[in-house]
Amino acid sequence: MYRTRTCGELRIGDAGQEVTLCGWVQRLRKMGGMTFVDLRDRYGLTQLVFNDEYDAKLTAEANALGREYVIQAKGTVSERQSKNPNLPTGDIEIIVRELRVLNESLVPPFTIEDNTDGGDDLRMRYRYLDLRRSCVRKNLELRHKFAFEVRRYLDSKGFLEVETPVLVNSTPEGARDFVVPSRMNPGQFYALPQSPQTLKQLLMVSGFDRYFQIVKCFRDEDLRADRQPEFTQIDCEMSFVEQEDILQMFEGMARHLFKALLGIDIPTLPRMTWADAMKYYGSDKPDTRFQMRFVELMDTLRGTGTFQVFNEAAYIGGICCKGQAVYTRKQLDQLTDFVKRPQIGAKGLVYARVLEDGTLKSSVDKFYTPDVMARLKEAMQAEAGDLILILSGGDAMRTRKQLSELRLEMGQRMGLRPKDKFSCLWVVDFPMYEWSDEEQRLMAMHHPFTSPKPEDIPLLDTDPASVRANAYDMVINGVEVGGGSIRIHDAKLQEKTFEILGFTPEEAQRKFGFLMNAFKYGAPPHGGLAYGLDRFVSLFAQLDSIRDCIAFPKNNSGRDTMLDAPGQLDQGQLDELHLAVRQEDREVK
Ligand code: AMO
Repeated sequence: MYRTRTCGELRIGDAGQEVTLCGWVQRLRKMGGMTFVDLRDRYGLTQLVFNDEYDAKLTAEANALGREYVIQAKGTVSERQSKNPNLPTGDIEIIVRELRVLNESLVPPFTIEDNTDGGDDLRMRYRYLDLRRSCVRKNLELRHKFAFEVRRYLDSKGFLEVETPVLVNSTPEGARDFVVPSRMNPGQFYALPQSPQTLKQLLMVSGFDRYFQIVKCFRDEDLRADRQPEFTQIDCEMSFVEQEDILQMFEGMARHLFKALLGIDIPTLPRMTWADAMKYYGSDKPDTRFQMRFVELMDTLRGTGTFQVFNEAAYIGGICCKGQAVYTRKQLDQLTDFVKRPQIGAKGLVYARVLEDGTLKSSVDKFYTPDVMARLKEAMQAEAGDLILILSGGDAMRTRKQLSELRLEMGQRMGLRPKDKFSCLWVVDFPMYEWSDEEQRLMAMHHPFTSPKPEDIPLLDTDPASVRANAYDMVINGVEVGGGSIRIHDAKLQEKTFEILGFTPEEAQRKFGFLMNAFKYGAPPHGGLAYGLDRFVSLFAQLDSIRDCIAFPKNNSGRDTMLDAPGQLDQGQLDELHLAVRQEDREVK
């Protein structure tokens, strides 16, 4: 037997026991004739002790150990003289009798401890070493438990886990596809699924009634802290349901996960329409851990003074930051720089402080009478000590998004976004379509199989841009953790919506004929949703990036620096696949 116990389980009650442990040498300290070794495995850290006086040869062997050597140690559990209250095993140590080196190690490129000296790039290149750090491993342990609880909940509700293929055709989630050449079908390519959307709908046609799958999805899109090119969905679909059934079922799942994994009872999820989310938060995924809702100031500030910027603005919105009138001129200039950054793109920032005597002191005082300023204060419900921040612009939607960034920034600065506080909600009634400047046509906001709200169906003919969808997102702390919709199961309605999306009947048939044909064989009313597993877990683990709960993630350029993927193919492989690579792309980048 390599080991009798792990490095995380021995306690004071085990004192006197003979044990064999295996693990990695995290640290070695010499103090006089004593040598202390911190031995690590997945379960924890245990201190080994060697004493020169009792066994000089064994202590010399211990002194020769290097960091990350893999060893086996046999000895006696003993109560420590000086205990370490920060370690679960901190009351005991092992007086070692026998030591065996199972494998040596090169000196690792960074220290394998929670507080490491390794930068991001280095840790990703040696991810297998990074994963030895308990703070990283804990995230993967949580991920395992999370997936386990998802399966437990869905199984208890009669969902069947069904695997769907990875080599498919283009799927309709709106990002770019990753493609795979087919050797057996020269010149033809599979696309990796952006989600199993169409396949799960086919499973409803097959009568599976309740489907789920914890499944990899692939999207070639610009990466961010909460986006990976391959990520995992908890993908679900149900038959004979309305939106309310789905919201109940999956709110139930969120409740189960919060309780089982964090011990938190979450309240009933509030529901906010997409229109309200945009109006009050400038975002379809509002962070509702804090208020600071937008106040529209067009009536108050447009045409009531000589400030041309406001007089010409289509939208003027303000937020009231409680107790922040202490902001100095310099800090306000920094905030102005913040909103002017190209990623945000505001032209400028107007601010007003409420002084102790209740009067307003603003950057646009000279353009307005005190009376207008008093109305501003009232509209913003501002009190002495508060800071009002105002953005304006010609495009209401764009200005709202800018104000949303400012609101999040202020929330962050004011400590209103603690990671251990959770605020969940449903955003409902999304628009069916959004206008794409790039494509110069209406695009499906969710995907083309999403059903319009029944009461809005007549608008498809007259004003499609105003049609609302039976689509919903679950948002937690400003993160879209999941989204879905009720699907169209009526072939006629589907034809009409394809037409609005600009597909000719032939195009629609070519792209989605398999689904439309299947719908001719008795498709039940159905709907579903998919959660982003990585996002959900990283919220629970209070991480900054979903990368930290993925064993082997990609960097922001979509590279796996450990595997050095993607890589080039040799000529033989290219020939076999009937592929040619342009000369300029052949050079090693
Ligand atoms: P959607 O495209 O909204 O819906 O995706 C569902 C959820 O998946 C997560 N997600 C991502 N997570 C990490 N990296 C990414 N690149 C990424 N893209 C999406 C989000 C998102 O809420 N087929 C539909 C679902 C349905 O209608 O049932 C779909 O894929 O958390």
